[in-house]
Parts: sequence; C-alpha cells; structure tokens
Amino acid sequence: MKYISGFSFALAVTIFITFCNNKKESDTMESRQGITKTNWGNTDGKEVFLYTLTNAKGVQVKISTYGGIVTSWIVPDKNNATSNIVLGFDSLSGYLAKPPYFGALVGRYGNRIAKGKFKINTTQYTLVTNNGQNHLHGGNKGFDKVVWDAAIDNDATATLLLSYTSKDGEEGYPGNLKVNVRYTLTNDDELKIEYNATTDKATPVNLTNHSYFNLTGDVANSILDHTLMIKADNYTPVDTTLIPIGEIKTVKGTAFDFTTAKKIGRDIDNVPGGYDHNFVLSKTDTSLQQVAILSDSISGRLLEVFTMEPGLQFYTGNFLDGTFKARDGKPINQHTALCLETQHFPDSPNEPSFPTTILQPGKQYHTITVYKLSVNK
Ligand code: GLA
Repeated sequence: MKYISGFSFALAVTIFITFCNNKKESDTMESRQGITKTNWGNTDGKEVFLYTLTNAKGVQVKISTYGGIVTSWIVPDKNNATSNIVLGFDSLSGYLAKPPYFGALVGRYGNRIAKGKFKINTTQYTLVTNNGQNHLHGGNKGFDKVVWDAAIDNDATATLLLSYTSKDGEEGYPGNLKVNVRYTLTNDDELKIEYNATTDKATPVNLTNHSYFNLTGDVANSILDHTLMIKADNYTPVDTTLIPIGEIKTVKGTAFDFTTAKKIGRDIDNVPGGYDHNFVLSKTDTSLQQVAILSDSISGRLLEVFTMEPGLQFYTGNFLDGTFKARDGKPINQHTALCLETQHFPDSPNEPSFPTTILQPGKQYHTITVYKLSVNK
C-alpha cells in the first residue's frame, strides 16, 4: 500500500512537472510570435513605448511610438548568424539627439519643398524652412519627432497601428491631417507599411519611412559594395540645393542607370556628393510592385522593395559623418548605410508636371510599401 502511494506521489509529481514544462514552452511560443510592449521613456510630457514585433521564424522588428521609428530589424545571414540591418539606438535618448531621420516615419511631406513655399489654387502657403532655404521632411518637428498613439491589431499576429493628428497650421501646412500607419511583420520576413490619411483642407501629403540599411549589419562595411537594381528608366535631376529642376531625364548612359543590378560604388564618383536622387519608377499604375532589389555578398542578405508610389529616393548616406555611433560604438560614417525611400517626387507642389501630392478633403490617402528580406545561402 505504502509502495503504491509512493508511486502515485511520484507519478503526480512527474505529471505536474511535465505540465509546467509544457506550459513554459507554450508561454515561450506565445512570446516568440506576436507583439510585446515596453516603456521607453518620456518626451513632450508623453510616455513613449517600444513595440517588438516577432514573426514565426523569430525575426524581430522594434518600433518606437516616438517618430514611428523602426529602431531595429534583426535577421539571420547565410551562416544563420543574426544582426541588425538598420541604423538605430537602444534608447530614446539616442533619438532625442536628432539623428538624421534614422528609421523614422517622415511627413507631412517626405523630402524637399523649394523655399518652403507652394500654392493651392490661389492661396499661398509658407512652411518652416529647415534645410537651408528649403523645407525638408516635414519641418523642424516633422512626424519623425512626435509621439504617435499606438494600438495592437488583435486580429493579426504582429501588427502595430500608429496614429497621429497633425493640426491645421503645423509647420505651416493647411488642414487637420489624420494619419494612420500600420506596420506588419509577416512570416515571410516582410515589413509591410500601410499609410492612410484624411484631411479637412487641401494639403500636400507625401509619407515615407527613412530606414537606413546596411545588409552586412556592420557599419565598418561600406554600402558602396552592396549591389542594387532599381526599376527606373528615368530620374529627376536636381539643383545645388537638391530641388528637382523639373526635368525627367533618362538614366541611360549615366551613373543613374540601375536597371541592371550593379555595385553602388561602380559609378558613384560621377555623381557629385553621392546619390541623393528621386528615381522615376517605370511602373505605370498605383498597384503594389517590386521596384528595387538590394543585395550584399558578405551576408548573403537580399532586400526587395515593393511600393504603390511613383518614386524612390535613393540616398547613399552622403551626410553621415561619424557624429552618431552604431550600437557597437563604431562611427556611422559616410556611405555606411543607405535609404530607399518610396515616395512622390520632391517639390511636387511646385511642379505641375509631377504626379500630384495634394490630398483633398473627403479623399483618402492610401499607400503601401513592403521591404522583404531574404537570404541567398
Ligand atoms: C533624405 C534627403 C537627403 C538628406 C536625408 C537626411 O534622404 O534626400 O538629402 O536630407 O534625407 O539626412
């Protein structure tokens, strides 16, 4: 009898331990795939949160409610070693030091508006000028420097919903603009960014994300050795202040020809200052299409860009000058990261021949961009 009860006790303990272990495992699974939230400090009298989106493979993207910033995107390379492929910091203070738009949501108008001036019908508007004589990326306090409201989409596995209302007159823009951005990390390692906005007065809107990529995950490696293909037969040449001169010029026979994949550094010496240009995508409609492929042979990583937008600002980190440091302390120097900003063309409000960027009341601004990561083994 004694023996049996001893045995039962042992059995009960075994069952209990097994139950606990299983529970532990399912808990880990839960925290593996999905979305978690942590406090990340305060600014502007508002609490800031950092969300971690994790997909079924364990790939993680972190997004801050300050600036809607993608602070990290950790992915495996061809040897299964993981590293961070975007520039960013682990603390809010890094961003409050105003790095040049690292990972941020950019708005109300991504890129430049000449002299901060434009007209809608007969009304003249004057925006804040924050880039020499021009307006850049929404002004002194663009969407990259405000705290967004956040919610988790419970119907999806790893989706973060951000919203921000930009007030009439903010940085000089007309109309109250309600913006919603939906970030999703899919199980196919796509970071999908869906932008929606409505306004109560006609206003220019051109939203984008300003992530800087270095597919090696190490800023010691120049991005001039990355290979890039852009599906663009034309680009918009610029003046010395980087404002388009209004022409749409063929890339054929120039350093801007990325229609066939080539090393970024191959022709860059023929582009004074480096690439910082809007490429006119060859797609002819607003459907979501693959427009660029970036790859790197060191890591084997490959990044595809899909967008509904007509343009792509390809920026080779020309103004990065070592002021900011990577997480490992290495200086972020010129050409150590690059941006592929999907967008309408710079200065469109002043160029009637460019696709319009004016959002009218009662209309919906809607655009999607996808960055898809894969590895060539
Ligand atoms: C964009 C612009 C660049 C530069 C960076 C931020 O990519 O086109 O000229 O202003 O943002 O430094």
